Amino acid sequence: MGILARFRKPGTATLYDTIGGRDALEVVVEDFYCRVLDDDLLAGFYAGADMKRVKAKQVEFLSSLLGGSVSYSGLSMRQAHEGRGITMHHFAMVAAHLADSLCAAGLHPDTITEILRAVAPLAGDIASDDIKAVV
Ligand code: HEM
Repeated sequence: MGILARFRKPGTATLYDTIGGRDALEVVVEDFYCRVLDDDLLAGFYAGADMKRVKAKQVEFLSSLLGGSVSYSGLSMRQAHEGRGITMHHFAMVAAHLADSLCAAGLHPDTITEILRAVAPLAGDIASDDIKAVV
């Protein structure tokens, strides 16, 4: 617990806490990568990847992104994804699989929306096409 915890107002739990912390995220991430690897348009990106590492880093990354006091020890989003030909379309597909996993885990739609809102700004570092060219 951080030194500022005593100032936190009741009802202001982080998304990390709302989901159920590390145990819950491990279940979500496992289900998420089942969906991603089952998707013919996405599986190829992960050929040769060390999925044990990717899953562990993803749990850390999402924990930290959603307000858990966990430090992320993996590559930056840009380093991990650059040069792989990932487009905004691929990003949207991956985000949709994440939403499906969160939904299957029984989370409230408002919580899922908040999580997707936190993930959306990562697109600029993960996808390499220019979204402005499409809009
Ligand atoms: C929701 C947005 C995403 C997040 C939060 C995310 C997060 C991560 C993290 C934490 C890693 C591990 C980095 C490390 O090894 O240190 C990773 C690796 C990877 N990601 Fe993503 N990612 C996202 C979207 C995508 C998309 C859209 C694709 C491709 C369609 C993708 C493909 C990959 C691949 C192939 C690796 C493994 C690289 C390797 O080690 O061989 N990711 N991602």
